[in-house]
Amino acid sequence: MISMTGMKLRRKLVLALLTAGSLLCVYVLCVNLEGSWSIEPLRNFHGFSQKPNSSSRDSEEPQDRRNSSERWSRPSPASTRHPEHPSAAALQKHTPAHTPPPTSETQTAAEPQAAAGATSKSEAVGGTWSSTRGPTPPRSTEPAFIGDTGYMAEDVPAQTNCTDGVRGRVAQTRFSGRFLGRVPVLQWANHVSPEQYKRLSQYSGAHGWSGVDYDTLVETLSVLNSSANWLLLDDWSRRSNGSSCSRCAVVGNGGILKDSGRGPEIDSHHYVFRTNGAILKGFEEDVGSRTTHYTFSTNTLRNSMASYAGLGFTGPPLSQETRYVFLPDHYRDYLLMKAAATHTAVDRGPERAKDPTRFFGQDVTAEKLKMYHPDFVRYLRNRFLRSGTLKTRNKFIYRPTTGAVMLLAALHSCDQVSAYGFMTPDYKNYSDHYYDRKYRPVGFFANHDMRMEMTLWQQLHQAGLITLYMHK
Ligand SMILES: *[C@@H]1O[C@H](CO)[C@@H](O)[C@H](O)[C@H]1NC(C)=O
Ligand SMILES: *[C@@H]1O[C@H](CO)[C@@H](O)[C@H](O)[C@H]1NC(C)=O
Ligand SMILES: *[C@@H]1O[C@H](CO)[C@@H](O)[C@H](O)[C@H]1NC(C)=O
Ligand SMILES: *[C@@H]1O[C@H](CO)[C@@H](O)[C@H](O)[C@H]1NC(C)=O
Repeated sequence: MISMTGMKLRRKLVLALLTAGSLLCVYVLCVNLEGSWSIEPLRNFHGFSQKPNSSSRDSEEPQDRRNSSERWSRPSPASTRHPEHPSAAALQKHTPAHTPPPTSETQTAAEPQAAAGATSKSEAVGGTWSSTRGPTPPRSTEPAFIGDTGYMAEDVPAQTNCTDGVRGRVAQTRFSGRFLGRVPVLQWANHVSPEQYKRLSQYSGAHGWSGVDYDTLVETLSVLNSSANWLLLDDWSRRSNGSSCSRCAVVGNGGILKDSGRGPEIDSHHYVFRTNGAILKGFEEDVGSRTTHYTFSTNTLRNSMASYAGLGFTGPPLSQETRYVFLPDHYRDYLLMKAAATHTAVDRGPERAKDPTRFFGQDVTAEKLKMYHPDFVRYLRNRFLRSGTLKTRNKFIYRPTTGAVMLLAALHSCDQVSAYGFMTPDYKNYSDHYYDRKYRPVGFFANHDMRMEMTLWQQLHQAGLITLYMHK
């Protein structure tokens, strides 16, 4: 008669212990992750060191941040960070949903057509673990979350008749095997279907749709239903002014731009791309004043607004020619996008009740909004920025920086790309941002690999695919 009740009690006890144990695990994990987010430099990089007192997270904040007048809300603690700091939500949800692998019809392998003269199919579909290291491992050894074989492929009409564009030149460079010209850069109404949802739900963060429910996805993407949402350079015919090649200036926020005097040169391009805390007022001589494309995620935008308000960043640039390009790494991006396109308050999530015109201006319309395709971001991660971080516990939060996605999107859309304000090997000579009032060292983050990005910019420059602004 040790009886049912005894067993039930014991079972309850075991259950309670298990629950307590797993809560503790989650807590420990969070604390650990928090710890590793500090902007301390990664120690295994030779030649980089920083004084301990300048590497605390607080040093990342503008000195006057506390005195800044927030125009629309007080920043939450999570948003008073460097823009590239991952959102709390990203930290909690860092495992992808479990979905069966796609069937062969839903899996549309991208063709290695990118370039005439592209190398063999297997090479083009292969990919390498790192742009600076080692040969390609057999594809079968790749963990499923990488997903380097199932990108959507489509034919986007050529927008220009440029004979000397990036797409023509890439075949002659070391990048020919990695470059896929048919992965859509942007997602729009035509891209959402139950099959695509099943396929992309395998991938988390900016790399897929796991974490976004199907209804939200349909509601958001169905308002992006015009060629302006599909094409990054949607108004080329109005801008070409007789030119057969599109010229894009892609402007990062690096301190190298301070006193550069490059403003007029930047503004003379057909298109000017900017990102995150791009402060223009007072810096026009060095960085220009036009913005045709502003790239951000909702998290990085809010971090920028919270952290750089005191330095003059009040929100995304507002002008008739500005387009807003979301890097969706969380469902909050889909919610804000829908709200912006429909001029309604955000209905739930971290931005609940926020008025999107506060961010994008009164005359924001669906035609001014764009959103990167998760296949494109995953393709960039896998083939251009396949960091060793993907082999660590940070693998699910790793993604290319917002600036890197912006620059590589331009590389896949423009004929000629000039990059300004991106990290260069002498980065220690410059402050983190061109608008910093006093020197602050470049911050490094566990969810990005900025040294690999820096190497990639050098390689693209050497290959003649971008013109990177450097001193000397
Ligand atoms: C490119 O050239 C072809 C043939 O000359 C022409 O039909 C087409 O409209 C041109 N496309 C653009 C985008 O200028
Ligand atoms: C997009 O617009 C086309 C025609 O304008 C329409 O047929 C289609 O149903 C729309 N798609 C969505 C998802 O709303
Ligand atoms: C168009 O091209 C002409 C001649 O090259 C130039 O003078 C003019 O400034 C250009 N216009 C714009 C808006 O770039
Ligand atoms: C950067 O700083 C180092 C040492 O402080 C100096 O030797 C070098 O010339 C500087 N480079 C540039 C481009 O200013």
